Amino acid sequence: MSFDERSEELARLRKEYEATGIEPHDLDADPLAAFDAWFAQAQEAGCTEPNAMVLSTVDSDGSPSARNVLLKGLDRSGETAGFLFYTNYESGKGSDIDATGLAALTFSWLQLHRQVRVSGRCRRVDESVSDAYFALRPRGSQLGAWASDQSRPVADRQTMEQRFADLEAQWDGKEVTRPPHWGGYRVEPQRVEFWQGRLNRMHDRILYVRSDQDWTRTRLNP
Ligand SMILES: Cc1cc2nc3c(=O)[nH]c(=O)nc-3n(C[C@H](O)[C@H](O)[C@H](O)COP(=O)(O)O)c2cc1C
Repeated sequence: MSFDERSEELARLRKEYEATGIEPHDLDADPLAAFDAWFAQAQEAGCTEPNAMVLSTVDSDGSPSARNVLLKGLDRSGETAGFLFYTNYESGKGSDIDATGLAALTFSWLQLHRQVRVSGRCRRVDESVSDAYFALRPRGSQLGAWASDQSRPVADRQTMEQRFADLEAQWDGKEVTRPPHWGGYRVEPQRVEFWQGRLNRMHDRILYVRSDQDWTRTRLNP
């Protein structure tokens, strides 16, 4: 297929979403509880990697980047409520977040014609939280966290594999501890939007906005 044909095909691709709708009162007043309910439904529906989310950041010049990461925790404890993920603090995303203190997340549960968008402040979790999660990871992933200078150039695959093998030997017989450059971030939501695809592009959108300790819920045009 030529590039022009592919482009025409993409323009014609169309799918009608016939799912049942949502009203603001169908969702829990707490958006994290509402998210939790939708997440369980995404798991039940067999959505692929339902905890995969696109993390969007900007650097200090406002230049945007987006990439997938995995949701690894939902913190419901009041002041620090939020969505947790783990990464290399010296990666591209790490320096964006450390510079701006902001991030957005997008979950795409396409089998259910659903999307959830989250945005707000983003900060590193306590070291004890990262230590506890790191200890749960398989040994290979723990070594991988030491081996990878994430987002930095590397000469070739062999250099990476040699570095991994060296670290394997170095840590042989020892418990692998968390590298200081690796840990968690928590996105503390200021806005959470639930999107349900409906017929004729008349989709449902319910937006939660945080005001002090409370949340307001509003329906948005699709
Ligand atoms: C499904 C999926 C899940 C991923 N999960 C993570 C993750 O949890 N943490 C992470 O650092 N990178 C994860 N990655 C890799 C990132 O998308 C990205 O390539 C990497 O973190 C470097 O991004 P950066 O240069 O923007 O910092 C994942 C990629 C995919 C496709």
